[in-house]
Amino acid sequence: MKDHLIIFDTTLRDGEQSPGASMTRDEKIRIAKALERLKVDVIEAGFPAASVGDFEAVLAVANIIKDSTVCGLARALDKDIDQAGAALKGAARSRIHTFIATSPIHMQMKLHMQPEQVIEYAVKAVKRARQFTDDVEFSPEDAGRSEEDFLCRILEAVIDAGATTLNIPDTVGYSVPQQFGATIANLIQRIPNSDKAIFSVHCHNDLGLAVANSLAAVMNGARQVECTINGLGERAGNASLEEVVMSVRTRHDVFACQTRVDSREILTCSKLVSSITGFPVQPNKAIVGANAFAHEAGIHQDGVLKSRETYEIMRAEDVGWSANRMVLGKHSGRNAFKSRMTELGVEFQSEEDLNEAFSRFKQLADKKHEIFDEDLQALISEVGFEAEDEHVKLVALKVCSETGEIPNAKVTLRIANKEVTGNAEGGGAVDASLKAIEKLVATDAVLALYSVNNITNGTDSQGEVTVRLEKGGRIVNGLGADTDIVIASAKAYVNAVNKLLSPERRHPQKGEV
Ligand code: KIV
Ligand code: ZN
Repeated sequence: MKDHLIIFDTTLRDGEQSPGASMTRDEKIRIAKALERLKVDVIEAGFPAASVGDFEAVLAVANIIKDSTVCGLARALDKDIDQAGAALKGAARSRIHTFIATSPIHMQMKLHMQPEQVIEYAVKAVKRARQFTDDVEFSPEDAGRSEEDFLCRILEAVIDAGATTLNIPDTVGYSVPQQFGATIANLIQRIPNSDKAIFSVHCHNDLGLAVANSLAAVMNGARQVECTINGLGERAGNASLEEVVMSVRTRHDVFACQTRVDSREILTCSKLVSSITGFPVQPNKAIVGANAFAHEAGIHQDGVLKSRETYEIMRAEDVGWSANRMVLGKHSGRNAFKSRMTELGVEFQSEEDLNEAFSRFKQLADKKHEIFDEDLQALISEVGFEAEDEHVKLVALKVCSETGEIPNAKVTLRIANKEVTGNAEGGGAVDASLKAIEKLVATDAVLALYSVNNITNGTDSQGEVTVRLEKGGRIVNGLGADTDIVIASAKAYVNAVNKLLSPERRHPQKGEV
């Protein structure tokens, strides 16, 4: 019998700390349901003390999710722990994850605390968390740069105080695999009561080593990995869930443990997270990138045709690529549409929402012959967003682009129920359209990123555009999809403007203790 490797997903918490990736309560619910179908063991749904929005999102996820443990993050402060306890009250299974920094630089420069004081805070926090739940996780933040002796002392003390999981975060992505693995082995061996807790790791990807470090830790006794879909997370991100899970599964000959993840749900989750957050997946990304199972070189294609194992170590369908077939078309009815959406985890709040989504589906099917799951995900992202946040709406767009002429665009928007029209010239059709929109909405935000991805293949494919706007320290990502890239760009810009105007979307920070 192999050990169970606990998969702790933090897409909704650490993932949300990526610039512009803040999610609304409803978006978090959609992702949480997809994670539950993926069978992750623990879903870290947010940081309840960070904002009212985050508190409500954790509360909602806790009330809906039944098969995974729902976790809330809390600094080692009474008020944070109480907020987490309150947000998790309705959960079938709840966990409080409390943390305090333990590296010399963090203790001196950030916390202005002596090591003994840090231990006191940690112990007090764990004891308080235990009043709400028996499942308490403690993290010594910046463990990757903390002294091993000090880690041994604080971890022994928190186990005595009731911590059941000890998470070792490489907060700044400084570790390298052999050394990180040895640290985990040393901690397990040196801490006298280490058998009373599960050791976990949480690695950041600043040196591109998050997955390698996590796997080295697993080989040295860690039995929980914290990770995110698509490797989303602060700065360069966290260890990618799909890479960790598929490594352990594919190399079962070298790992003494296994996960309970249903890997066939991986691709759906990846697409959902990408479309909600506006973070596209790079084509050569392992497991979920568009090219992950594509063979270009003739010699490889020849080999795969003769025997798939010549160049493939995993089966594409095992991570959900086979679900990627044409699913619906122009003649599909409302029931077929609704049932495919249900399979994708989308539940409509009302008949009106279903009707709106179905009518958009029909419009898309008129333009595009074959509708894939990715098209449906993009479509629902738009409908879902509009329901909650749409202050500005794109009514019409006319663009004139001709060789030798300066492109110009005429845009009509509905802003707070009033229609306004404006024109602008630009370097190209997209530039002119976005300038015309900006003239009307006057956000004065900086365009920090503009990117286009085709959702499926072919020239009739929908283009998915991401627009990142930055204003006064606030960053938002807008998404738009359409078979016409100029319209997709306009939709993405309007989407980003709406997010900028929405009070619900703020970027929660871990803050300081
Ligand atoms: O990176 C980090 O240290 C964290 C902790 C809260 C676990 O995200
Ligand atoms: Zn982190």
